Formats: sequence, structure tokens, C-alpha cells
Amino acid sequence: MDREHARRWDRLAPRYDQLSAGMERRLLAASRPWVAGRAVGRVLEVGVGTGANLPHYPVGVELTCLERSAAMLAQARRRASDLGLQVDFVHGDAGAMDLPDGAFDTVVSTFTLCCVPDLDLALREMTRVLRPGGSLLLADHVASSRWWVRAGQAAADTVSVPLAGEHFGRRPRAHLGALGLEVLDSERTALGVIERVHARHPG
Ligand SMILES: C[S@@+](CC[C@H](N)C(=O)[O-])C[C@H]1O[C@@H](n2cnc3c(N)ncnc32)[C@H](O)[C@@H]1O
Repeated sequence: MDREHARRWDRLAPRYDQLSAGMERRLLAASRPWVAGRAVGRVLEVGVGTGANLPHYPVGVELTCLERSAAMLAQARRRASDLGLQVDFVHGDAGAMDLPDGAFDTVVSTFTLCCVPDLDLALREMTRVLRPGGSLLLADHVASSRWWVRAGQAAADTVSVPLAGEHFGRRPRAHLGALGLEVLDSERTALGVIERVHARHPG
């Protein structure tokens, strides 16, 4: 099933930016400068997709971008080249990253934790590769703060999880305390469906 979900992203890749343009404008775009603008030093972005965050990183960061879909990675490479950015691209899985412990000052992930197969595993991996005191920067669509929206999201999950591996009822922020991460700042918008989090690695 995981492999089928990865192939789905491969098939979507050439049309992803076009298909998601409306949602990008209305729901996703505002989170990108919030998240990427806080990145410093050696930065890892997990699940880079087509590279929508790339224009928002501060000049001078050292970027590594990981992605499981080779076709999405190819789109991100193209965008980095168009922007004249030097990026180290890695084809890999958020749940088992072939990257050393404590190697990054900042780990970023946007709109990817909603579709990784194992949320806790991916967050553990992100924490492992973060240096003590480093920043974890997240943005995603999450379980709403309104009960009636959450009820709709729970109904959507019964279809979207088995068919597309897409979760509407997750909330990564709720898992960070168990990993020892301290939330420094967070914001929710769009009926609490979009959440941005800046957390710090202990140490
Ligand atoms: C909705 S797209 C978001 C892309 C991008 N982060 C953004 O903000 O536009 C989700 C991306 O996560 C990637 N992805 C899903 N599961 C993954 C995993 N286990 N490891 C790495 N990437 C993964 C998909 O291939 C896809 O490119």
C-alpha cells in the first residue's frame, strides 16, 4: 500500500502545481514564509514535493531536501534551478532517513505529515537528525479546533486514508511533547484546520 501511495505522487507530479493552485492560494501559501523564513543554518526539508517553499528560504541557508517520489523530486530540482538555488536533493523516506544524527540546525516539513504512513516514526526521525537546540518548523492541515469540522474530517478519513493515504484527523503538534520538543510559537487559521508550529529540540 505504501508503494502504491508513493506511485500516486509520481503520477500526480507533472500536474501537481496546476491541480493544487486554488488550494495553494486560499489555504497553503501563507504558511510558507512563516515556516521557511525561520530556517537557519543547515536546513533539511522533508517531503519537499515540487519545492513550493524554496523561494521563501533566507539567503545563506544550506539546503537539503528529501522526498520519496522521484517525479516530485524532479519538479523540485527544476524549481531550484530556475531560482538559481544550490540544493542537495535526497531521494528517501521520512520514516527511515539515511542522514546522520544531529546533522541539521533546522528541519522543515509542510503539508507532508498528513500523508506519511507513520506520523510518530517520521517525527522521531526529524527529531533524530536535528541538533540539540535546533528548530523543527511544521505547517499542515490538521484536525480542526471546531467539533463540527472535525466530524466532517473524520468522515473524510474513512475514504481518503485507505484510498490515498491522506489523513485529515491528525495533529502533529500533539505528538511533540512526547519527543521532548518544546513549542516556541504556533498559529492556527482556517477554522483551526491549518496549523503552523515552531518547536525546539531539547538540549
Ligand atoms: C501534499 S505534498 C506536499 C509537498 C510540499 N511539502 C508542499 O508543502 O507543497 C506531500 C509530499 O510528501 C511526500 N511524501 C509522502 N510520504 C512521504 C515519505 N514517507 N517520505 C518522504 N516524502 C513523502 C509526497 O511524495 C509529496 O511530495
